[in-house]
Amino acid sequence: MSKIVRLVREQVEVVVDASTGAPTILHWGAPLGEGSDMHADMVAMLSALDRPLVHGTFDAVAPVSVVPEHGSGFTGRPGVAGRRGGGRAWSPRFTTVSHSAVEHRLTVDAVDEVAGLALTTSIALGDVLTVSSTIENLGDRRYSLDGLTVTVPLPEFADELLTFSGRWAREFQPDRIDWRHGAHLIENRRGRTSHEDPPLLFAGPRGFGEWQGEVWGVHVAWSGNHQLVADRLADGRRYVQGGELLHSGEVVLEPGETYTTPDLVGVFSASGLTPATWGFHRAARSYRAHPDTPRPVLVNTWEAVYFDHDLDTLRSLASSAADLGVERFVLDDGWFGSRRNDSRGLGDWWVSEEVYPDGLRPLIDHVVGLGMEFGIWVEPEMVNPDSELHRAHPEWALVTDGYEPVLGRRQLVLDLAQPDAYDHIHRHLDALLRDHDISYVKWDMNRDHLQASGIDGAAGTHAQTLAVYRLLDELRTAHPEVEFESCASGGGRVDHEILRRVERVWTSDCNDALERQTIQRGASMLVPPEVMGCHIGPPTSHTTGRTQTLAFRAATALFGHLGIEWNITSLSDDERAALRAVVSLHKEYRGLFHGGDSVRFDTASEYCAHGVYAPDRSAGIVSFAQLTSAASLTPPPLRLPGLDLAASYRVEHLGLPMETRGPGRTRPHWMAEPGGVVLTGRQLATHGIQPPSLHPESAVLFSLTRL
Ligand code: DGJ
Repeated sequence: MSKIVRLVREQVEVVVDASTGAPTILHWGAPLGEGSDMHADMVAMLSALDRPLVHGTFDAVAPVSVVPEHGSGFTGRPGVAGRRGGGRAWSPRFTTVSHSAVEHRLTVDAVDEVAGLALTTSIALGDVLTVSSTIENLGDRRYSLDGLTVTVPLPEFADELLTFSGRWAREFQPDRIDWRHGAHLIENRRGRTSHEDPPLLFAGPRGFGEWQGEVWGVHVAWSGNHQLVADRLADGRRYVQGGELLHSGEVVLEPGETYTTPDLVGVFSASGLTPATWGFHRAARSYRAHPDTPRPVLVNTWEAVYFDHDLDTLRSLASSAADLGVERFVLDDGWFGSRRNDSRGLGDWWVSEEVYPDGLRPLIDHVVGLGMEFGIWVEPEMVNPDSELHRAHPEWALVTDGYEPVLGRRQLVLDLAQPDAYDHIHRHLDALLRDHDISYVKWDMNRDHLQASGIDGAAGTHAQTLAVYRLLDELRTAHPEVEFESCASGGGRVDHEILRRVERVWTSDCNDALERQTIQRGASMLVPPEVMGCHIGPPTSHTTGRTQTLAFRAATALFGHLGIEWNITSLSDDERAALRAVVSLHKEYRGLFHGGDSVRFDTASEYCAHGVYAPDRSAGIVSFAQLTSAASLTPPPLRLPGLDLAASYRVEHLGLPMETRGPGRTRPHWMAEPGGVVLTGRQLATHGIQPPSLHPESAVLFSLTRL
């Protein structure tokens, strides 16, 4: 007997059958409307979609439940994998015990008496669909859990996937693929969310675009190892399954113990990718760590001085920054222990007397005296073999005893699941924050996990991930005035579980504006602009060697949480004035950049167009970038959907300092007109505006004002 539960929001509805042990999502998509007898309508819908039994299969069609069961006839990837030595627990089949639906959240309790396991599944519909499951060992012997994932079905017409790949300094690269028979697997064993395999995908009917097609997005909110699978069964049914990737023996449940999956976070829109991703943004904006104050423009010392810390230089960097209107100064790597280069010192979290004989106070006082906040870089999860800490406690490294560990950036991971190691790091960070006027912590994590064993020799990434969350949580509680940034060699730890603990993510170590156009566009599909760290680097990028104008670098960085990562002590007067104007432009529009709805537009690959609309559609700013040279000298008109169709908008060129002029750059007439052009939202959506011809690696901004 089905137990149908509906979770309904304005733009999305989820219909669940709670009777299947782990519940089964029957519908996730557009609202189904209000009939006079919705229950009867649902039963009719179920019966209309009932799949016939066919030859060559089992005599029952197994549901694609949230935790699908091999033992019930599901032929895809089961939701639970585990064992109890010699017991019958490897292929559980759960029976619903009870369910309750309260305030858009369905909770279903189920049990398998044979396997001695209980399963509690939660499905909640808010800005996003959030699904998770908890398994409990009811037996009297330990149960070794190899994996617990949660599954959401997608319609059979969702036959195209958008996935992401990346590497250091090139995160969030989109990839469109046909979703054919079989599984597309996103798998990560790096112990951090990763540059390479971010746990995020979108699906929709072939050709879905930023503003067209039904689109579903799924993300595993987790900062350790993960798996995310888009699978199509032989019978045509499609599902996406995600969760933590567990190594053998990594999670062992003693009698009575439980394991809970990370949240699988889903978004849906009936009208394209851009509106779908607003769900992720709204969810992020609801997290307790999400900032509610204007995002201070910052200067970061990394590409300005690297390890060459010198008090006078840093003071002069701070003075130059303050003069430009910068509001936060972040002292990056190199201030502590013996850390004069990247081969030593990690773990020794005391101020280097060699570089700062009078401590950090002279620098902090200078920064604070200039009216800026002071921020500091740490990498708490790491230790260099060449450090006081490692010499004193080699047993705290997260390695497998008996093997020579493979180093990464000449460092090892510190096993924060060991209470003494945790306490040591906690104590030092707590003291650092207590003893100094520090408002901001850039929390870095620069190497992957490898053969990461806890003290008992079992795989330790799961425990380490939880320990990192706990450390952040405890520091945040003790220092509520301090903001945190999640960095992992750039954007290696960008996910919705870390976002519950940080005010900012460092999107990429690449400050090259050309690369950043794509990196930030990809990242914008998961995180809102105000948490996305975007820096103006030096004219010649340190990671690519490309040289770009300030206008292009600024146009690219302006939409996110703006920073400067450039030795600005030696700028020319013109550069200084231009950079000051950029900072002031950012501040002028900061409320819109950081409080609006991010929008992206479909263009040919030579261009990149995106922007932000005010939530009430009273204003907007759009960026149009020419990435490479194109076959046509003139780009096609840029259509701007999503505005108030009936309203009139003034569209104007929003000039950036030091925009290049010259041959090959021709502005359309309307851009040169004082007051730009006035068009309706409908005209903008249907015909759009003609962008100028630009040099490769340049961009223009347009402002939109509703009249
Ligand atoms: C990697 C980060 O992404 C950089 O911004 C910088 O903080 C370095 N680590 C410092 O070692």
